[in-house]
Amino acid sequence: PIAYVNGTFLPLSEARVSILDRGFQFADGVYEVIPVYGGRPFRLDAHLGRLERSLREIGMAPPMDREALGEQVRELIARNEGRDCQAYIQVTRGEAPRNHPFPDAVHPTVVMTCTPVTPVPEEWIREGVSVITAEDIRWARCDIKSIALLPNVMMRQKAAESGAFEALWVHQGQVMEGAASNIFAVFGGRAVTPPDGSRVLPGITRDVVLELAAEQDLPVASGEIDAADLPHAEEIWVTSSTKEVLPVTRLDGEPVGKGRPGPLFRTVLDAYRARIR
Ligand code: PDD
Repeated sequence: PIAYVNGTFLPLSEARVSILDRGFQFADGVYEVIPVYGGRPFRLDAHLGRLERSLREIGMAPPMDREALGEQVRELIARNEGRDCQAYIQVTRGEAPRNHPFPDAVHPTVVMTCTPVTPVPEEWIREGVSVITAEDIRWARCDIKSIALLPNVMMRQKAAESGAFEALWVHQGQVMEGAASNIFAVFGGRAVTPPDGSRVLPGITRDVVLELAAEQDLPVASGEIDAADLPHAEEIWVTSSTKEVLPVTRLDGEPVGKGRPGPLFRTVLDAYRARIR
């Protein structure tokens, strides 16, 4: 595999960053995961736009303009002969002696990798996946796609240990999102997904689903999800760039709805698949 480090393409095994990098020392950086289908990055502009926003929110300037960065992403995919893969971009504040305030005259560190992906197993689509709920122990700026992912790592480990695929964060009685996904829940035949806010990442996959729903007049909209209502949802889905749209059929060990992926899920997944191809 070929990686990218600060303007240079090189074998992944030779890619290096300083141990004084603020990403390593402080998790002082942000990232994006971009799905690639047939060699083409999907919604690249939206991902790069969100990266710029994350950078702005942590007081960093974009390392280069959007077109130039997009070109580097395409170049990375080409150099990896990537077909169905995911591109990862990480931008940190850069290397400096360890001291909390932003250093003067520091250069951002930009690294990128391109990893082949195996398609989502058909069994997950047919049978659905299970999730657990967890108290939201993250910070209050989950709208920033920060590389500080320790709560997410811990909770996904807990989910894995209990045989679940994902953990859903509950903050003050409201379901926010998954540890690495956004959530939709269906009540009375209508799907809702929590609106943008400081405890939700503005998911690109979620936005594509909302856009498809608007185009095709499907009953899907933004709306709060009460944690107390979630066990009564007819359907639950999670969305992400890597997992697309997945049906959730078990919640904290109990079946969701009829315990099978629901009809609205199927419609949305078909529409999503038609859009990415
Ligand atoms: N995670 N919420 C969180 C906390 C996420 O980490 C992600 C994605 C999403 C879904 O966003 P999108 O549809 O733009 O991928 C929501 C990536 C895939 C990851 O960390 O690997």
